[in-house]
Amino acid sequence: MKQEIIEKILKKYETPIYVFDIDKLKQRIRFLRENLTNRLELCYAIKANTFIVKEINDDVDRFEVCSPGEYSICEESSITPEKIVISGVYKTPSVIEYMITSNKKIGRYTVESQEQLKLLDELSKKHNVKLNVLLRLTSGNQFGINEEDIEEIISKKDSYTNLNFEGIQYFSGTQKRTNKRLQKEIDYLDEFLARLEEKYNYIVEELEFGTGFPVHYFQGEEFDEVEFLKEFSNGIDNMKYKGKIVIELGRSIAASCGYYLTKVVDKKTNKCQNYAILDGGIHHLVYYGQTMAMKFPHLEIYQLRDNTNIEQDDNKEERENKKTEQDNNNTEAWNLMGSLCTINDIIIKQYPVSNLQVGDVFIFKNTGAYCMTEGISLFLSRELPEVALLKGGKLKLVREAFETYTLNKASYYF
Ligand SMILES: Cc1ncc(COP(=O)(O)O)c(C=O)c1O
Repeated sequence: MKQEIIEKILKKYETPIYVFDIDKLKQRIRFLRENLTNRLELCYAIKANTFIVKEINDDVDRFEVCSPGEYSICEESSITPEKIVISGVYKTPSVIEYMITSNKKIGRYTVESQEQLKLLDELSKKHNVKLNVLLRLTSGNQFGINEEDIEEIISKKDSYTNLNFEGIQYFSGTQKRTNKRLQKEIDYLDEFLARLEEKYNYIVEELEFGTGFPVHYFQGEEFDEVEFLKEFSNGIDNMKYKGKIVIELGRSIAASCGYYLTKVVDKKTNKCQNYAILDGGIHHLVYYGQTMAMKFPHLEIYQLRDNTNIEQDDNKEERENKKTEQDNNNTEAWNLMGSLCTINDIIIKQYPVSNLQVGDVFIFKNTGAYCMTEGISLFLSRELPEVALLKGGKLKLVREAFETYTLNKASYYF
């Protein structure tokens, strides 16, 4: 992050804070489109980061929405309703009825169970609307339905007079680092779609495929993403299935646009271990694959006293040079701890920093996906951080810091 931007953020706002760089986000979406076969459309799974949806309404083809709250966010962000896919393992009947009656243009609904099929069938008839549906194929968990059940539904599809069975949705998990695993899924889906055509003369119009593309969060993890996307695209292009394919992505779209800034507020050495206490913590920072805080995520340190901003994650050679430089500057290993009252609030163990001082700011990168929603934000009744968007070099606050103690106390006025 540019030094002038960091200074702007620190001058205008308090830490901890999330900053989402919208220019970087749009660039990321362009990168994905450029490196994937143009046969694919992009669906953004908004659970990854709900603060950015309005900014990318024109950049993605769809939004996957999984709860009443996520739907309200889309409504208030004026998301094009045709782009919305209402998904989720529990579709609150009253909310689905509200959606169907208040907005007839919602693109499609997924079906995750016989119960959901019944609900959509009844509501579509009651309100005399046609609904597009995608049947979610299970990958062996509580989500979706078995192949045989999908086959049975397809065999009777004409009895659901107001439902248009557009196709299949499939998602089996996140952070898939190898194309071998993805290719297995492509082959499996290809075979299943072919079977539906052969057995039921049902031609799937579209496949919505959550590919779980990976994000490499930690220093030293090398990854040729262009090659990865090319290989995946070849797999897609070689499918027998020639209908439309939309890939659902959360992490891969949103992670790289996010920065989380947290300040050193105290430091101490206890029993020969250095501890830096930060004003943020693990309730705001979730790195998939982090174990025991042993890995170093990509980060920068802004050291206020001499206005130096040390990038610590570039390429290996630079890292090594910097390390040597830091070693020469008496680097010490610091345990970076958050402000929660638990010994588990360790962000990183033994991170080498030279001349760490109270007031230094750590800027954690790749924090644009899941961090602000998956963290244990209510623990200890600390404030939720501010959220700002960075666009064309300008910062815009889009959420103020939010007190959580009001949510954690008994109220006697009900
Ligand atoms: C149905 C579905 N699609 C897409 C995603 C997004 O996954 P990812 O963030 O790995 O891209 C999820 C995440 O849980 C999901 O449940």
